[in-house]
Amino acid sequence: MAILKILQYPDERLHKAAKKVERVNEVTRKLVRNMAETMYAAPGVGLAATQVDVHEQVIVIDVSEARNQLKVFINPEIIASSGAEECEEGCLSVPGIYEMVRRAAKVTVCALNEKGDSFTLEAEGFLAVCIQHEIDHLHGKVFVEYLSQLKQTRIRAKLKKRLRETM
Ligand code: NI
Repeated sequence: MAILKILQYPDERLHKAAKKVERVNEVTRKLVRNMAETMYAAPGVGLAATQVDVHEQVIVIDVSEARNQLKVFINPEIIASSGAEECEEGCLSVPGIYEMVRRAAKVTVCALNEKGDSFTLEAEGFLAVCIQHEIDHLHGKVFVEYLSQLKQTRIRAKLKKRLRETM
């Protein structure tokens, strides 16, 4: 296994749209394992392949306290959503930034698991937020894009400054 490098906002590559995985195979499973290891090491609750510069529709999530309930979503699609909820979000690609984002409160997601079997999951609460956040990554969207232009400009400036300081 390997820890992968996580792209940092405002990296242009975070805005690439991910392609569907045509066949779930050993290469996909290796990506899933490395993404899971990277997420746990960060530590984070979710990671999209886009964030490690692989532009395929693969997501890993673990919102459990014990960090032992890995959920893998390949080619995920939200087939139903309802309600609205505001929740504070952060992102491994936007370190140190936490902002309120409004999303659907409940979602039904259809995806493939790492064996290539399809499944449907109904999620609410924090898991629903994570699923929507990670699927956005696959579409090239970072959560800060829900914020006002002014806030986005401030966040970009802050992160660029921090990047310069750490180089
Ligand atoms: Ni994120």
